[in-house]
Amino acid sequence: MSETAIKDMAEATTVISNIQQIKTVSVIGAGTMGNGIVHVFAQNGYKVQMIDIAQPALDKALANIGKNMDRQITKGSITEEQKNAALANITTHIDMEGGLSGADLVVEAATENVDLKLKIFKDIDRLAPAHAILATNTSSISITRIAAVTSRPAQVVGMHFMNPVPVMKLVEIINGYATTKEVTQVIYDLSVHIGKVPCVVNDYPGFIANRILMPMINEAIISLQEGVAGVEEIDTIMKLGMAHPMGPLQLADFIGLDTCLSILNVLHNGFGNPKYAPAALLTNMVQAGRLGAKSGEGFYKYTSGSKELVVSDSFAGNQWK
Ligand SMILES: NC(=O)c1ccc[n+]([C@@H]2O[C@H](COP(=O)([O-])OP(=O)(O)OC[C@H]3O[C@@H](n4cnc5c(N)ncnc54)[C@H](O)[C@@H]3O)[C@@H](O)[C@H]2O)c1
Repeated sequence: MSETAIKDMAEATTVISNIQQIKTVSVIGAGTMGNGIVHVFAQNGYKVQMIDIAQPALDKALANIGKNMDRQITKGSITEEQKNAALANITTHIDMEGGLSGADLVVEAATENVDLKLKIFKDIDRLAPAHAILATNTSSISITRIAAVTSRPAQVVGMHFMNPVPVMKLVEIINGYATTKEVTQVIYDLSVHIGKVPCVVNDYPGFIANRILMPMINEAIISLQEGVAGVEEIDTIMKLGMAHPMGPLQLADFIGLDTCLSILNVLHNGFGNPKYAPAALLTNMVQAGRLGAKSGEGFYKYTSGSKELVVSDSFAGNQWK
């Protein structure tokens, strides 16, 4: 038997079963969530391989991570040396093969699109080591469906971080239909190890976080569309009335309106219940490229460097009669 075959057999029988075995984490997608996930793993001493389709996305993500770590230095939560050590743990890759080589854990955080994720998971399955756990940060797509395109559904799990990842404590862990208890336990222990608070849920559309959050955001958009109230009024009512740190329309801008639309479509299709149908205004805004903070405008306008919240001209002057 060749050396490679022996290595392959050994790998095939030793799926990661405790967090000490995890040294290298590959993160696919360097957008809003990907760069935060890379930040947290790198800061916790993991070797992180950050993968995206084009170098500019990777450069932007690295610059973001640096800026966010500078903010942590200003607050006194990390030192300059810790920042440099964390950045030295990160390598960037535009080829999946190089970026997945030697990975013990893969966290997929690419665009929320079913066909794209199914394709990416087929590639991960082909290229990542047999012992690796394959996690997805999807907000809503079925873990079971993603797992089914791989040859190792027992090793596929949801690891749903919240935005911004370095700040938000929650990790919603999602058991796919075939995920083993051991794999879920490793992701649970790992989440605790990197300073997060994990909650385990089962695989139904939207899991828990978005099954509850997205209908609220959608209802806020429908209320705006019907002229019940303006952007500021809707957000202020939910902030001051319900003690939410941010109104639903601002939160939608922050999440990305395209992501919100995709999640609502998953809920709508998954449950077949019209109560989840996305607001026509949301669909229009996404089609018009008004994606929220990341595109510079959504319900609010985002001029670079300004912290002031300014309602988009499209919704200004929406006054009560
Ligand atoms: N934005 C949020 O608040 C939030 C919160 C929790 C979970 N999520 C989930 O995280 C995932 C990523 O969302 P995001 O907001 O970071 O999206 P984003 O649009 O900011 O970033 C997605 C990144 O994926 C990259 N990408 C696309 N196809 C790729 C491929 N084939 N290979 C490698 N990279 C590829 C894109 O170039 C982009 O950089 C989605 O599944 C989303 O549902 C988002």
